[in-house]
Amino acid sequence: MDMSSTRAQEPGPEIRVRDIELKYPTRHGMVQALAACSLTIPGGGFGCLVGPSGCGKSTLLDLVAGLVPLQSGRIEIDPGPSGTPARLAVVFQRPALFAWKTVLGNITFGLRARKLGRAEALARASHYIDLVGLGGFSGAYPHELSGGMAQRVGIARALALQPDVLLMDEPFAAVDAQTRAVLQQELRRITADARMTVLFVTHDVGEAVYLGDSVFVMSGRPGSVRRHIQPDAAQRDRSSDAFAQLTAEVFDLLAHAPSPDSSKGVLS
Ligand SMILES: Nc1ncnc2c1ncn2[C@@H]1O[C@H](COP(=O)(O)OP(=O)(O)OP(=O)(O)O)[C@@H](O)[C@H]1O
Ligand SMILES: [Mg+2]
Repeated sequence: MDMSSTRAQEPGPEIRVRDIELKYPTRHGMVQALAACSLTIPGGGFGCLVGPSGCGKSTLLDLVAGLVPLQSGRIEIDPGPSGTPARLAVVFQRPALFAWKTVLGNITFGLRARKLGRAEALARASHYIDLVGLGGFSGAYPHELSGGMAQRVGIARALALQPDVLLMDEPFAAVDAQTRAVLQQELRRITADARMTVLFVTHDVGEAVYLGDSVFVMSGRPGSVRRHIQPDAAQRDRSSDAFAQLTAEVFDLLAHAPSPDSSKGVLS
């Protein structure tokens, strides 16, 4: 049974972010993380967010996830396939695992909370544990895992929920290059099969161009979307000249993004 595509086969919901401004209060005054930030990811689309460190990528993802309260602007996520609120799953930059639960327990927890039967939760969790290459580690506890392994548990946990919207914050940052390539390929396949809507944050321009049907290039802080690029099939083929050309173009854009410094954006 291919459990990776059991989500309803209608495209996931569209995500619209409009004119977001966000300031964090700090000891040194207000830090403006985002300014006039807008983007749209169509239903079933794969949107990648690239930008310099500190430009507000995680803040934007947390806003879409509803984890940070909106200050101004709008975020709209269309309803899920059955008209109910869209089901979201988040993979955090630092995987937040339950330290007292095993790998398997971490993944079945959310499934049981969604009223999945015990046998089905176990089967589904095992499927995704295998998928991220942790087959032998179901019984391990988070402190027994490397950073990259813990990150993969976070990925398996999110995928196992078979959400309508998948929000991922640098999910492969701590994963070794070889595993990363496998996971990128799997992620592209799973999300396309299930027609999930994805918002994926990364530093890695090549990863963004390979994965994203939309690539949003952000400016330095306060972050906003400077360019929206929609790579075509040839540009997403890593072995093509078109891929090399497009990634070079995005690098160039990033090189000219003003880099966030300690004073810029601090409003005192
Ligand atoms: N909870 C917070 N309190 C105060 N300032 C914050 C908070 N979270 C983020 N910031 C500030 O907001 C800005 C944007 O942070 P954010 O984490 O969104 O950036 P990022 O683009 O995800 O960076 P990275 O690529 O390094 O993960 C940074 O200047 C950061 O210092
Ligand atoms: Mg971040």
